[in-house]
Amino acid sequence: MTRRAVVIGTGHYLPERVVENAEFEKTLDTTDEWIRSRSGIERRHFAAEGETTSDMAAAAAKAALAEAGMEAESVDAIVLATSTADLTFPSAATMVQSKLGMTRGFAFDVQAVCAGFAYALANANALILSGQADRVLVIGAETFSRIMDWTDRSTCVLFGDGAGALLLEAQESAGTSDDRGILATDLNSDGRYKDLLYVDGGVSTQNTGHLRMQGNQVFRHAVEKLAKTANTALERANLTTADVDWIVPHQANIRIIQGTAKKMGLSMDNVVVTVQDHGNTSAASIPLALSVGKSRGQIKEGDLIVTEAIGGGLAWGAVVLRW
Ligand code: UT7
Repeated sequence: MTRRAVVIGTGHYLPERVVENAEFEKTLDTTDEWIRSRSGIERRHFAAEGETTSDMAAAAAKAALAEAGMEAESVDAIVLATSTADLTFPSAATMVQSKLGMTRGFAFDVQAVCAGFAYALANANALILSGQADRVLVIGAETFSRIMDWTDRSTCVLFGDGAGALLLEAQESAGTSDDRGILATDLNSDGRYKDLLYVDGGVSTQNTGHLRMQGNQVFRHAVEKLAKTANTALERANLTTADVDWIVPHQANIRIIQGTAKKMGLSMDNVVVTVQDHGNTSAASIPLALSVGKSRGQIKEGDLIVTEAIGGGLAWGAVVLRW
């Protein structure tokens, strides 16, 4: 028998305020048509004043616990992927722990920007496989609206806020690729590309800063690196693209999503797409898409899922799991 990290609950949270592309036409030299055709984004949610990353993360986590019929006290660890934690410290994960009323276990943040959820899942999987935890909440949550330069049309129209969560549980299985759970992970980063996507401030520079991106350069790296990491993770699981039911990609740009699917030889019928409604929510985009894909009836138990993401660093990675 083999120990596996199996998804037993999903949940998400989106802030109430929805901003349509047309809103940006009032303040920027842009159009709904440009945003829609270049990125696939139609609208995004923005957190309310005072609403924080840990508030949204806790809401998503509560939904995942409720779906699994589990109490927070039965969770051993919280791994929260975010680049927009409420405070410099403590971690947003410990704030979620407190908001859930959880007084045991341990909690920490993972920072790999838009690839954060792949990194968080890989870490949670390692904790489960090594026997350090039996039940782990893996959350992606972001308030990127707080780091936008609202005068920069090339970035501020692309991002949104939100949170998604998975509850993973250690289960014993025969250990084949037909059995449920995380089957393989692949993580990468290359700091030579740090200037393509970054925030021009931080704790040691004494200002919060704003997101800066050379979008077309990131785009160029994205399709190639995403298809490669997805194929590497599939190979590690002894599977091929023919086995894939759903690609659940990081939702940054519909053209990247289409290009990656094409490079992998898969149809868009096999891709969960939420970018039109959420924009780019960085580390929250994959758990949001998993939760929304499940509630739409797309993702079903037993499906073979590949998630892939790339972002600042550059950092990128993929996770293959049997739902
Ligand atoms: O999640 C982390 C990873 N991030 C990504 O994956 C994002 C990757 N990049 C992208 O999604 C795309 O590169 C963008 C959507 C950001 C941009 O699309 P693009 O097709 O690469 O356009 P571009 O940056 O090459 O810009 C084309 C033109 C430029 O004008 P000129 O120089 O050709 O005259 C821009 O100034 O579009 C202009 N432009 C805009 N026009 C209207 C840039 N932003 C806007 C805008 N409205 N909002």
